[in-house]
Amino acid sequence: MAIRRSSSSLVAALIVALAVASIASAEVLFEERFGDGWENRWVKSDWKKDENTAGDWNHTSGKWSGDPEDKGIQTSEDFRFYAISAEFPEFSNKDKTLVIQFSVKHEQKLDCGGGYIKLLSGEIDQKKFGGDIPYSIMFGPDICGYTTKKVHAIFSRDGKNHLIKKDVPCETDQLTHVYTFIVRPDCRYSILIDNKEKQTGSLYSDWDILPPKKIKDPDAKKPEDWDDKEYIPDPNDKKPEGYDDIPIEIPDPESQKPDDWDEQEDGEWTAPTMPNPEYKGPWEPKKIKNPNYKGKWKAPIIDNPNFKDDPYIYAYSNLRYVGIELWQVKSGTLFDNILVCDDPEYAKKLADETWGKLKDAEKAAFDEADKKKQDEEANNEESDGEDENEDESEDGDSKLDSEAEEEKDTHDEL
Ligand SMILES: *[C@@H]1O[C@H](CO)[C@@H](O)[C@H](O)[C@H]1NC(C)=O
Repeated sequence: MAIRRSSSSLVAALIVALAVASIASAEVLFEERFGDGWENRWVKSDWKKDENTAGDWNHTSGKWSGDPEDKGIQTSEDFRFYAISAEFPEFSNKDKTLVIQFSVKHEQKLDCGGGYIKLLSGEIDQKKFGGDIPYSIMFGPDICGYTTKKVHAIFSRDGKNHLIKKDVPCETDQLTHVYTFIVRPDCRYSILIDNKEKQTGSLYSDWDILPPKKIKDPDAKKPEDWDDKEYIPDPNDKKPEGYDDIPIEIPDPESQKPDDWDEQEDGEWTAPTMPNPEYKGPWEPKKIKNPNYKGKWKAPIIDNPNFKDDPYIYAYSNLRYVGIELWQVKSGTLFDNILVCDDPEYAKKLADETWGKLKDAEKAAFDEADKKKQDEEANNEESDGEDENEDESEDGDSKLDSEAEEEKDTHDEL
């Protein structure tokens, strides 16, 4: 008995030890909650400064939040470019799980703009970080007009950006949401929003990172004697005798020479013509099934000589920076709780402890702010409900639309 008890408690102790070890083993490469001192960890880029289109960040919890003391960084000027980055100890995700996670809130009812972050490799001049600096991975929501409302997940390799082929819709309301991208060493991935899995699969099938494994043989040619006519004219069908003698038109049998027709003056009377009901068009032999039909010719599928399998398509050997680089028509996007680590459980816990803990209070604060705004608008309409106001807002909208179009163009270059 005594032996048994001690062995079972040993097992229990082992389980506890394993659980502790698995939590302790999470490697956190970067975690930013935007508490005091955040400005020492981040470098604001000079990108677009000389054109006066570089926007500034506001360290705030925004107009509504679950905790006014829990701040992030928010874009604060309309029609501006934003570029900011932070460095972390160089990391290779080869043979490891990579987790990228952050929260984002679009307070401005975003109609066109990004809410994504980038991981960059190697060494960059952070003061020059911007839209044209190559990145390794880009991840997060992107909204533009009615057509673009999706989560980007882009792997960049050898100067080419590979977008996810599956559609992953993003959140479009004005509340905080957590976006998580998990890339595993078996080349499988998951995309989560608010700790719920929205998409999962394989890097091989959901991106075109590698060239296709099999292709149609480009050198194959249809053999000369390949008969791909399914029907042929019946060689035994013969044109009936006299077929070509049938006239196309005949004199109208119904017509009669008018009574007052004067052959002296009007010339010889001829009946008007009409289509001949007997005439069936030029003769054609009837069609029969071709006994030599071989089916449609198809090039044989062969192994693609340009395909080189790469079990490490997910891996980047020197990840080193987190960057946010955006163009915003309307500002108000707030980032917080940025995490890069190797443990999905750790990320889940962080999301629960931040977004999860505050989301109900944030929703209540938003509803209150929304109600206040609506009351104010109703009051304004009562006091000066004139056409003038409407015209103004229409002009504003059309300006936004044209900017939105421009933004779409930039998006296509991703
Ligand atoms: C920063 O955000 C707060 C809260 O939304 C706002 O009151 C303040 O005006 C903002 N400051 C700037 C410079 O945009």
